[in-house]
Formats: sequence, structure tokens, C-alpha cells
Amino acid sequence: MKRISIAIDGLSASGKSTLAHGLAKALNYLYIDTGAMYRAVTLFAIREKLVDREGNLDEEAMMEALPQVYLTFRFNPGSGRSEICLNGRNVEKEIRSHEVSRHVSVIAKMPAVREKLVRAQRRMGEMKGVVMDGRDIGTVVLPDAELKFFMTASMEARGKRRFLEMQRKGRAVTLDEIVENLGSRDLIDSTRDHSPLTQAEDAIVIDNSDLSIEEQFDHMMACVKQVLEG
Ligand code: DC
Repeated sequence: MKRISIAIDGLSASGKSTLAHGLAKALNYLYIDTGAMYRAVTLFAIREKLVDREGNLDEEAMMEALPQVYLTFRFNPGSGRSEICLNGRNVEKEIRSHEVSRHVSVIAKMPAVREKLVRAQRRMGEMKGVVMDGRDIGTVVLPDAELKFFMTASMEARGKRRFLEMQRKGRAVTLDEIVENLGSRDLIDSTRDHSPLTQAEDAIVIDNSDLSIEEQFDHMMACVKQVLEG
């Protein structure tokens, strides 16, 4: 059976990771959440006090510290997912905090950070049989991916989705705070100089504001089958 690379890009909280994980599971492919990698570097920067509460980043110190950041994914049979480890420690929970969300776009803007992570992502994508989600996968990381999706949804749908997710996890954050964070991340992620969020020309666009997860999954699987059989 032919194995392909699938790139899924899109806005924050557009439901990329749920679908990417579902596709990878159904196809028995490796799932790589590249947002988790940028989040883990951000957690490192917060812990090392390289970024302050206002989001001011000491870029020089960050550059110097980057070689100390070692990221791996480890499969957790409990969650059924590959989870991110920062210097050998599983940080999957910590990287989802609102504090990390607040600072991640500033870290992800740094060219040195992007170069390091893109190199690692390309290596992981070399084997095929991979579903990778992020912002620049179809355009920069895996431009030759056989199948590319671009996911969008209205701010209302995305805000509600992230709010319910945070509530389920017992995190104290309001819908307004989430919407504000999504808005500012959209802006930084899509206007930064270095590989901004852009839709690849050959990507299939999925606006999932009014689609259930099952509907999206069925549509995406039909696209996969077409490529595999084509
Ligand atoms: O997908 P996410 O919300 O967990 O991603 C967190 C941040 O990481 C997002 O605001 C932008 C950045 N990111 C990026 O710049 N490039 C990627 N390939 C993935 C994420």
C-alpha cells in the first residue's frame, strides 16, 4: 500500500489537531503536532525567564539557549497519542496553558527557532506515512506532500471550541480572553516575516464552522482515498 505525507495547516483552534490525529490513527500513520514543538520551546523560555509577563523576549539569550532545547515525541498508551517531551520530560499538559498560548507567537516568529524546528520536522516527515499539522507545513516544511488541507472556521466557532476545551480541563479562563488571544495570534502568525501562515495553492480548504468532526473526517478520508487510489 502506497504511503503518503499529509499536511494540515490552519488557524489556531480550527480543529486541526483533532482531525490530524483521527486521520493518522485511521491510516496507521505517524501524527506530528508541530504547534506542540513551538509551545515546548515557549515553555522553556518562560521557565528560563527569557520572556517576561508582558511578552518581551530576550532574543539574544534565546539564541544562546536554543542548543539546550531537545524535543522528542513519546507515545502515551493512556491517551493514545504521541506526546511532546522537553529535554526528556513529558510537558504535554504544561504547553496547553494560557500563559504558553499568550507567548508562543512571539517565540515562533524567531527565525532561529523556526529553522531548528523545521529541520527536525522535515526529518520526521522523510519516511512518509505521516500526518503533520501546523501553519507552514504545506508551504515550507513538506511542500511536496501528496495531500494538503487548509482548515478555517469563524472566530465564534473557534473561540467556543477552545473555551469548552479549557473548561473541560478545569482551566480558569474566560471566553473573552480566549477570543482576544486567538485574534492576536492570528495576526502575528499570518503577518510575520518568516514563513507566515499562508494557504498552499494546492491545498483543499475546509471551513468547519458548521461541520461536525465526523463530517470533516469523512470528507478528508475521501480525499485521502482518492490520492491513494489515483
Ligand atoms: O497549533 P497551535 O495553536 O498549538 O500552535 C501554537 C503556535 O505555534 C501558533 O500560535 C503559531 C505557532 N506555530 C507555527 O508558527 N508554525 C507551526 N508549524 C505550528 C505552530
